[in-house]
This record gives sequence, structure tokens and C-alpha cells, in this order.
Amino acid sequence: MDAKLRYDPAQIASALLDWYDGHARALPWRALPGEVADPYRVWLSEVMLQQTTVATVRPRFAEFIARWPTVSALAAADDAAVMAAWAGLGYYARARNLLACARAVAGAGGAFPADEAKLRGLPGIGGYTAAAISAIAFGKRAVVVDGNVERVVARLFALADPLPGAKPQIHALADRITPEARCGDFAQAMMDLGAMLCTPRSPVCALCPLTAMCEARAAGTQQEYPVKAAKSPKPQRYGTVFWVERDGAVLLVRRPPRGLLGGMRALPTGPWADAPPGLAGAPVAEADWAMARGTAHHVFTHFRLQLALAITTGDGQSDAAQGEWWPIDDLESAGLPTVFAKAARLGRE
Ligand code: ADE
Repeated sequence: MDAKLRYDPAQIASALLDWYDGHARALPWRALPGEVADPYRVWLSEVMLQQTTVATVRPRFAEFIARWPTVSALAAADDAAVMAAWAGLGYYARARNLLACARAVAGAGGAFPADEAKLRGLPGIGGYTAAAISAIAFGKRAVVVDGNVERVVARLFALADPLPGAKPQIHALADRITPEARCGDFAQAMMDLGAMLCTPRSPVCALCPLTAMCEARAAGTQQEYPVKAAKSPKPQRYGTVFWVERDGAVLLVRRPPRGLLGGMRALPTGPWADAPPGLAGAPVAEADWAMARGTAHHVFTHFRLQLALAITTGDGQSDAAQGEWWPIDDLESAGLPTVFAKAARLGRE
């Protein structure tokens, strides 16, 4: 056994699976321990969970399943309806890929492939998601490593190398401890352990089924893992969002199909810039603009955005505007991405 594995991998897996049998979280897309789940539900939940917490995904998953109970139903859905239903679940490229994937699967007979490599060939399915679906929905042996699993493995083996460079090592160690049988349960047990006990800040080692086998715990250094390389700060950008109101309705536009929040309904904006861009890019010329008090803030993967809201109300001057007039009382049903919902709130506070 190599230096990093002082314990029998089978012992680690069996301690974890015993714990899972008694402590698995009941999640709506899951089968009971020992059973395999519906691939459509597993796929949908995994795509949602790529960006969002379990707590947020629970009700949204239920909504999606009630509305589109099968992959074929989702494949037949209206693009705009799916994009609107995705609001608040993160990047919209994911929703576009979700539909493209549903259509590819439905077009090929309606069954997801079980094989990791074939899954990876589908839109929006990367290495992690392919492994997760193959293991959880088909019971195949696959090495499933998400952020929770990275933390558990880094602590278990007191891995000194920093993330993200240590990812291949973590994958190799996860591979060593992944069993042949109950591979889907093992993957989900690692995730649950990471979410419930082996948490980032205050791990509950006293209740952990792997405590006797954990190198970091033995050294009392569990909080120090995973080691992370220093991050460069995200650039700060600025923008102005325009609130054009008349007769109880507000002007909404559809964003260009590609790019950030592509294809989504939105409030009109000017450019994102390195300094507040003022009224550049206003959707109506010659309006009287008033600036809302305060600013809205949103953090994207690659930058932070601070938004101001420019407001104009009244009739006449907004006739020339391009877009749709949406009843302000019913703005929730427009499916505005979170960043625009935040900006819209500035106008209504
Ligand atoms: N995070 C991503 N996939 C998950 C799953 N199947 N169970 C729990 N947490 C998860």
C-alpha cells in the first residue's frame, strides 16, 4: 500500500456505506440506499446542483418535475418557458444545454446512456456530471468528485498540495477508495458526509464514520484542508439598468442569444464598464432620468457587478422603445435573472 493509503480502501468504503444506510439525506431525486434512481431525475438534479445549493434546488426540482415529468416532456417544452423556469438557478447557458441535452436524449429514443464516455458527449454534461449519472442512476463504477468530495479526500489523506493543482491527485485517491459495488451510494455518501459532517468550517469529527482513518484528524489539522492556492480577486465592473415605466408596465427586452444571460428576458442595460457608465446605452432617447437610491450588487464567476438603476416614467417619450411592456404587478412571472430582479427592487423600494 502506498504512503498515502495507510488504511484498507475497502475498510473506508464499508464504514462510509454503513453510515450512509442510517444517515443518507432524503432528497427528492434519490432512490433509497441500495437502489438506483431514475436517470432523468438524477441528470436534472445534478445539472441544477452544479451551481446552486441543495436547499435552493429542492423546490425548483419539484417544480420542474411536476411540469416536465419525463425527458421527452422537457424536450418538447417551449424554450422560453424553460429559460423562465430556470431563473435564479444560475448561468443560463446551463438551461440552454439542459434543453439541448433533453432533445438529444429524446431524439435517440428517450433513454440516457449508462456509459460515462457517452454521457460526456451530451450537451452540458462534463466529467463530473457524467460520472455522477453513471454511478447514481446506473450503479456503474465511476469516480465522482465534487467540492464536498474534494474536501473529504483532502482531509482523509492530509493532502498538502493546494487546489486546484491537486485535483488529479484527489481524483486518483478517490479512485482508490471507490468500491466496485454500490458505487452510486458511495458517491452520494461522500457528498453527504461533506455536506453534513466534514463541513468546511467546523467539521463534526466526533460523529464521522471515517474519523479513525482520517490523517488530518489524527494530526488535529482537519480545518487546514483542503489547502487552496491564493485566488486573484475578481474584477469589479459597473453598469446601469434602465427602468422605463408607463401605464403600470415596465419595458423588458430579450438579451442577445449568446453571451452572459443570453436569451433571457431582462431590463434594458447599457455596457458593463470599468467605471459607472451613467446613461450610456439608454433604450429611449430624450427621457428624463432619475437615478434610484443605492446600487445592486451581483457576483458572477469572473467578475463582480455593481448596478445603478435609471428610472423614467410617463407616456409619450417611450413609444419608440423596442421590447415588451410587462405589467409591474406581475413582474415575478417574467422570469428575470436574479441580477435584474435585484436591480428592479431598487426602483420599487
Ligand atoms: N450534490 C450534487 N449531487 C448530489 C447528490 N446526488 N446528493 C447530494 N448532494 C449532491
